[in-house]
Amino acid sequence: MDLYEYQARDLFEKHGVPVLRGMVATTPEEARAAAEKLDSKVVVVKAQVKTGGRGKAGGVKLAKSPQEAEDVARNILGMDIKGHIVHKVMITEGAEIDEEYYFSLLLDRSNRRYLAMASREGGVEIETLAVEQPDALARVAVDPLVGIDRAKADEIVEAAGFAEEDREQIAEALIKLGEVYTKEDATLVEVNPLVKVADGRIIALDGKVTLDANADFRHPEHEELTDIQATDPLERRAAEMGLNYVKLVGNVGIIGNGAGLVMSTLDVVAEAGKDLPGHPHPANFLDIGGGASAEVMSDGLDLILSDERVKSVFVNVFGGITSCTAVAEGINQALDMLGDKASKPLVVRLDGNAVEEGRAMLSEKDHPLVQVVETMDEAARRAAELAAEATDENQEA
Ligand SMILES: Nc1ncnc2c1ncn2[C@@H]1O[C@H](COP(=O)(O)OP(=O)(O)OP(=O)(O)O)[C@@H](O)[C@H]1O
Ligand SMILES: [Mg+2]
Repeated sequence: MDLYEYQARDLFEKHGVPVLRGMVATTPEEARAAAEKLDSKVVVVKAQVKTGGRGKAGGVKLAKSPQEAEDVARNILGMDIKGHIVHKVMITEGAEIDEEYYFSLLLDRSNRRYLAMASREGGVEIETLAVEQPDALARVAVDPLVGIDRAKADEIVEAAGFAEEDREQIAEALIKLGEVYTKEDATLVEVNPLVKVADGRIIALDGKVTLDANADFRHPEHEELTDIQATDPLERRAAEMGLNYVKLVGNVGIIGNGAGLVMSTLDVVAEAGKDLPGHPHPANFLDIGGGASAEVMSDGLDLILSDERVKSVFVNVFGGITSCTAVAEGINQALDMLGDKASKPLVVRLDGNAVEEGRAMLSEKDHPLVQVVETMDEAARRAAELAAEATDENQEA
């Protein structure tokens, strides 16, 4: 999970990394109140979006009074930065910046290490720096079992060639940033820029943090960092059920096992719907994974059927380790569990392990909503046709 800058700032503060005071606002009035509270000669209003280049897009602005902070926030809130709408701004103290540096710590998968990168040339995009001035970017491997201890911090500041007088302070900051990385289970901690201000202090001015979702169980406190506003309600419910679900814009619900199969299913359904009235296409991506138990199938169907736009559902499962009998059992049980809640036609295509037995179980059950179709292409066409018909009926009614 990527964090917003203000959340990264909070984590930095928690671990003793020097940061500026900052407050979040969702309205221009709140921005004004925050500026009054900060009571700084200059404040900076910063768009909170999970993408880079905010400054260039006009999402980072100085304000010399609470009134100006309000006006600037009014401009920035609602702004579209590379497809991300600004719902929040952070108001921070203005800093008198003398120099801008760069620091990041990330997971180096291929070398099974962490990689620390540091440069005296901060403020610019790291991709640009790496290409245009590769020598100005120091890269230092970090042993994950040790992290950034005193010796490693000294090695990094040395490699980056920071001025003698700043090394002590920067090394201190790097040790703390290393703690953010390990203690919070991050996969990325980036500070761009790390600045030196007029009175000589070193401050992390802008932070990016990515947390490792695999370590969520160790961090119940991270749950509140999830951005509810940006999450679709159905996607939220799916996440709570532990399902791999992505909502799309069409009207054919898709359930499959394995990401590869689900992706090709999206393609064949879109292709099948191309020439039909209303151009039916996939409404979602739902991968029920290897073991399609009755419960998972039921949760999945329940979720997809509660999406009003869905007019038909295509269940496309290739039995591998899980036999088709287990999948058929899952579908039958799911329909029993759902009862009247199951109200839209289901096209089922099974193949692979114990396919005959699985199909037989569905035929025997003979549920009025279920149609078993043998091939993937035919099934996709059938599901698209059913969606087109249902949409047509709605329009006539
Ligand atoms: N509190 C502040 N006081 C003074 N100047 C600031 C302050 N915050 C940001 N700036 C200036 O604005 C520049 C851009 O700020 P920042 O790094 O936060 O945004 P960005 O780099 O545009 O966004 P992103 O990191 O998402 O690409 C900084 O390099 C710095 O020169
Ligand atoms: Mg930045």
